[in-house]
Amino acid sequence: MPLVTTKDMFEKSMKEHFAIGAFNVNNMEIIQGIVDAANEEKSPVILQASSSAIKYARIGYLRKMIEAALEEYDIPIALHLDHGPDFETCKMCIDNGFSLVMIDGSKYDFEENIALTKQVVDYAHSKGVVVEAELGKLAGIEDDVNVAASDVMYTDPDQAKEFVERTGCDSLAIAIGTSHGAYKFKGEAKLRFDILQKVKEKLPHTPIVLHGASTVIPELVEMCNQYGGNIPGAKGVPDEMLHEASISGVSKINVDTDLRLAMTAAIRKVFAESPEAFDPRKYMTPARDLIKQTVQHKMRDVFGSSNKIL
Ligand code: G3H
Ligand code: 13P
Ligand code: ZN
Repeated sequence: MPLVTTKDMFEKSMKEHFAIGAFNVNNMEIIQGIVDAANEEKSPVILQASSSAIKYARIGYLRKMIEAALEEYDIPIALHLDHGPDFETCKMCIDNGFSLVMIDGSKYDFEENIALTKQVVDYAHSKGVVVEAELGKLAGIEDDVNVAASDVMYTDPDQAKEFVERTGCDSLAIAIGTSHGAYKFKGEAKLRFDILQKVKEKLPHTPIVLHGASTVIPELVEMCNQYGGNIPGAKGVPDEMLHEASISGVSKINVDTDLRLAMTAAIRKVFAESPEAFDPRKYMTPARDLIKQTVQHKMRDVFGSSNKIL
């Protein structure tokens, strides 16, 4: 099956109230773990690469590995640029066959974000590519702010409506309390579902995206720490909240940290238990398997995307 855009999968997700996982990819084993899971679950899937992932893996390699996945499996796969920082990076990905791109103008003020997003939308749409934009700010890689402490960073539902109307973007990432990385909450996990609901009321036909949505799966953190890691006090968005988001209008859920944890935990275990091992396949195979297991759990038990192929 050729690469698809998110148009049809998002339509189905909004109609049938489930979310599609967007998983960050950086190398072959991560890609294989994700698509093996999607194939078994018969789930649509979004593979996304950040600009630093593209720098690391190189765009040609990423494209060819994803082509191989498309040849291997008959499932809808979209290829997405995650957090496109500028027009040039978005254009480069569009010209290299990505089926959707994110332009992340959230660091700019409202008008600048609109102007930049519109520039990307115009180019992308002329090439049949769809665009995700962002309004509101998440903590972590986007800004060094404590979201929980500052309401001004949450997405404003009225602004969201104006933003989508003026830019023509196809989907919108909103800030409702998630953040990137392994340290999302100091105390209790809390998401502003009231904001999500208001955004959906204003924009009932716009697919909504949740960034920074890893669970920071406690078992994986524990496994990393048990085998020599040092990741104390990590905390993410509980599965129940992600499930609620999936049935409440969120169409795309971004996951990177949980895959990093899965890969690291599996590799650490092999290194700790078999210090004599030095064949990369001995530790990359369990790493790929644990990524697959992690993705399958999300699709089946949390996002509800299993058996949702069109
Ligand atoms: O939200 C960002 C993703 O986790 C990608 O991170 O830029 O380190 O690849 P990265
Ligand atoms: P996590 O760090 O929660 O996995 O978020 C990933 C993400 O939002 C990628 O854009
Ligand atoms: Zn993100």
